[in-house]
Amino acid sequence: MKILAIETSCDETAISIIEAKGDFKNPQFKIIADTIISQINLHKQYGGVFPALAQREHTKNLLPVLMETLEKAKMLTPAKNTNKISKLKFPISNEKRKKVEKILERESAMTESLLNFAENHKIPKIDAVAVTQGPGLEPALWTGINFAKALALLWDKPFIPVNHMEGHLVVSLLKSKVVSSKYQVIKFPALGLLLSGGHTELVLIKNWMKYKTIGQTRDDAVGEAFDKVARMLSLEYPGGPKVSKLAEEFSKNIKRQTSNCKLPRPMLNSPDLDFSFSGLKTAVLYMIKKIPKLTPSIKKEIAFEFEEAVVEVLLKKTIKAIEKYKIKTLILGGGVTANDKIRKNFLNLEKEIEGLEVLIPEKQHSTDNAVMIGIAGYFRYLDGKILEPNKTGKIRADGNMRL
Ligand code: KG4
Ligand code: ZN
Repeated sequence: MKILAIETSCDETAISIIEAKGDFKNPQFKIIADTIISQINLHKQYGGVFPALAQREHTKNLLPVLMETLEKAKMLTPAKNTNKISKLKFPISNEKRKKVEKILERESAMTESLLNFAENHKIPKIDAVAVTQGPGLEPALWTGINFAKALALLWDKPFIPVNHMEGHLVVSLLKSKVVSSKYQVIKFPALGLLLSGGHTELVLIKNWMKYKTIGQTRDDAVGEAFDKVARMLSLEYPGGPKVSKLAEEFSKNIKRQTSNCKLPRPMLNSPDLDFSFSGLKTAVLYMIKKIPKLTPSIKKEIAFEFEEAVVEVLLKKTIKAIEKYKIKTLILGGGVTANDKIRKNFLNLEKEIEGLEVLIPEKQHSTDNAVMIGIAGYFRYLDGKILEPNKTGKIRADGNMRL
């Protein structure tokens, strides 16, 4: 089946079309089209994502992104205007029009353009519309959800609400070594390590759809800590990639693998599987305050030491969980898995722990995208969690949605 998936939980407007087949044991996926418009340049000036601004941008971007994605998939078929009497090739009933207007009440800026689009384009050959329901910024989530509800109704397609974090987990099933994105059959129990801007979680996966959080951050998420440290080092939002670039420059230029400045490793030896990154961030702040002049080389050294501390804590707790639950597959997910040091260190666990397989998403699918929503949508479809297009009323954005 072909799934059109929509992601608007934060500052990326993303739509994909994926083809999926097979069951839970042997599902196969192919990316047909994948489009992302990032709002980073817009939010940069505020040093973070501004929810109302994100919502406005999603409202503006969704239809163009949809059309671009359909075009890439060769599914954008405009009506031929040969019939002079009825100019509209695909008329929409008044009843449907009213329902769409109601759904898009809060995104009224896109109502007319969407209706106009639907009237003038053939319904694409897709089988369902999937969308991120949460977690994320609620105003941003709502925009994608309402757009998806309207599309499902206009096209008469089933609707699949998806958990963003499940998307981050399942996207690493597109095995990086295989360009055609073949499925990697995984062995259970598996362990998910979710590292994003809002989450740091260890998730025990006994089987697909059976998730249990066994460890999590007690304060800041890893990505958040990266972004805050970046701000302290006067780096632009989103700072994660920039901190990691500085850290890399430190190890390349200085040719030293340890730094002279020392930061704490919070909760490294605590008996649980939880994390804490707020203290680490504060330690960076105090360190910076003590330094008379923050030169580029000192910045690099701090970035390096910060990354070292993060990786050490993440590795130790993950290994502990692997041993405790006799994990056979480790699945990493979330934007922070774009970090090279994290990728290298976690891939290395395959060599250190016998029988362990480690899956990490391709870099392009580490940060938010809609391919992951399509894949998670297929899993939800296999699990029977789909809604009729006219029964989506109860679906609400859930900013704190749990796995
Ligand atoms: O998953 P994601 O795209 O969005 C959320 O769902 O939160 O994750 C975004 C987070 C941001 O905090 C960003 O700074 C961080 O991922 N990030 C990185 C890197 N690339 C993105 N952190 C460290 N190193 C990177 N290379
Ligand atoms: Zn994310």
